[in-house]
Amino acid sequence: MKPNLSKIAAMFVAVVLAFFVFATVEARAQEKPKDKAKEKTKPMAGMAHAGMDVAKAVAVLHPTQGNTAQGVVTFTKEEGGIHVIAKLTGVPKGEHGFHIHEFGDCSAADGTSAGGHFNPTSMQHAGPMAEKRHVGDLGNVTADDQGNVSLDYVDKHLAFMGPNSIIGYAVILHANADDFTTQPTGNAGGRIACGVIGVAK
Ligand code: CU
Ligand code: ZN
Repeated sequence: MKPNLSKIAAMFVAVVLAFFVFATVEARAQEKPKDKAKEKTKPMAGMAHAGMDVAKAVAVLHPTQGNTAQGVVTFTKEEGGIHVIAKLTGVPKGEHGFHIHEFGDCSAADGTSAGGHFNPTSMQHAGPMAEKRHVGDLGNVTADDQGNVSLDYVDKHLAFMGPNSIIGYAVILHANADDFTTQPTGNAGGRIACGVIGVAK
């Protein structure tokens, strides 16, 4: 009788233990799918903004420290490229280098946080109409006597999806003209305005 009782007690303990182990595993298994679902929705939302159905983008340029240049640059998808329209004010008279730079970061007072020219295809610096150029090489803009800039052209190197997507990078206006030959900057001098390219409607 005594050995039987202790066997029954041992079996009881084993059953209770097994129940707790099972319950814990079950609870963890139920948590996991929820976490995975959460993780999956984040990259999907991000991809949509990376260019999946973007038709228009905009950059609002603000003057860097000590400068007055500002304005709006719109990028609109068209057959054969991206239609670039820039309306700027407060720009010193004359030609100014105009580029997309490799970081969407205008936080530095002098705009240097935007890094170098946006160059996903590893090309040399050149003018906007060159076959081989930095994707970010938009050329020069010209300010009139009143300090106004009006640029309007279609750029076939720019895109809203794929490696050439300009979404999230920065538009920089320079103090001097881009010579289209000096590597890798075009020798366009300091940065007088900066704005990050974002998705628009
Ligand atoms: Cu530049
Ligand atoms: Zn360049």
